[in-house]
Amino acid sequence: MPLPDFLKDRLTLPLIAAPLFLVSEPEIVIAACKAGIVGSFPSLNARPAGEFARWLERIEGELDENDAPFAVNLIVHKSNPRVAEDLALIKEHKVPLVITSVGQPGEVVDQVHSYGGMVFHDVINLRHAQKAKEAGVDGIILVSAGAGGHGGLINPFTLVPQVREFFAGTIILAGTLSNGRAIRAAQVLGADLAYMGTRFIATKEANADEAFKQMILTSGPLDVVYTDKVSGIKGNFLVSSLTAAGIEIEGLPKPEIGFGKLRDKREADRAENQSESEAKAWKEVWSAGQGVGEIHDIPSVAELVARLKGEYQEACKTP
Ligand SMILES: Cc1cc2nc3c(=O)[nH]c(=O)nc-3n(C[C@H](O)[C@H](O)[C@H](O)COP(=O)(O)O)c2cc1C
Repeated sequence: MPLPDFLKDRLTLPLIAAPLFLVSEPEIVIAACKAGIVGSFPSLNARPAGEFARWLERIEGELDENDAPFAVNLIVHKSNPRVAEDLALIKEHKVPLVITSVGQPGEVVDQVHSYGGMVFHDVINLRHAQKAKEAGVDGIILVSAGAGGHGGLINPFTLVPQVREFFAGTIILAGTLSNGRAIRAAQVLGADLAYMGTRFIATKEANADEAFKQMILTSGPLDVVYTDKVSGIKGNFLVSSLTAAGIEIEGLPKPEIGFGKLRDKREADRAENQSESEAKAWKEVWSAGQGVGEIHDIPSVAELVARLKGEYQEACKTP
């Protein structure tokens, strides 16, 4: 499947800098689009809600037709109280690409299509991919095993071809991709675009704590654990950050503070405001994918994209 028209000839690399809760803000989005890849951010990162309009205005003001398009990530889970409000702004600003995740894309698809926008939906398994197809999405993001955030459990070597059997739209592959050769490998597997999250946390423009960036540089794949103890949904987190927050994981050294205390506090917060409580959890505990072992520096986004491009072009020469 070729790239959708709105991306054709607009990208220097078939790559999306994935949306990262609390980490992706306008700086990284603008830098990514200026470097020729799709930059994205979760609307929930703009807090309070009124900030979202200002972020959109700033991004639109700084990008021009020579830059790659940007995307907004809309968390469509029922616990997100801002879906309708954020969707209204997305329509008003005619955001070119909407990435829906953690729920059903449902009516978002029609609303985004009504102004000519595109919807890519994020899934971790075949059942959700099938449902996304039925909802009429333009692209499906396959979040494979080892991915940062709420990664899946399916190996990409079989996830991509199995979804390709029934979906003719754009396929985007996510999970541990950290270099240009991996972008090429995603295409060889049958994906149209690659999706990188963790690699972009270790960039100058990422709004991540310096200690978080350093932890990525010093971690390997076995320093990442798949657990539902942070948000109730399984995801990949850096073990050292879990230990520091007092979260006990079976098989890991016993922490000094009990998890129960933290959980009770979170449950109280949750009753108050689900998304605020989620933010508190993700601020204390850091998510990353198994690709951390390949990340050794904190370049600017422009430097990183230039390097990825060189690696990708080199890989394309390989017969
Ligand atoms: C710190 C962090 C925050 C994330 N936040 C979000 C989010 O808000 N929305 C979303 O759809 N995906 C989120 N993800 C998942 C990424 O968008 C992407 O699917 C994933 O990072 C790809 O795998 P990789 O990290 O191995 O490259 C997050 C991932 C990380 C590591």
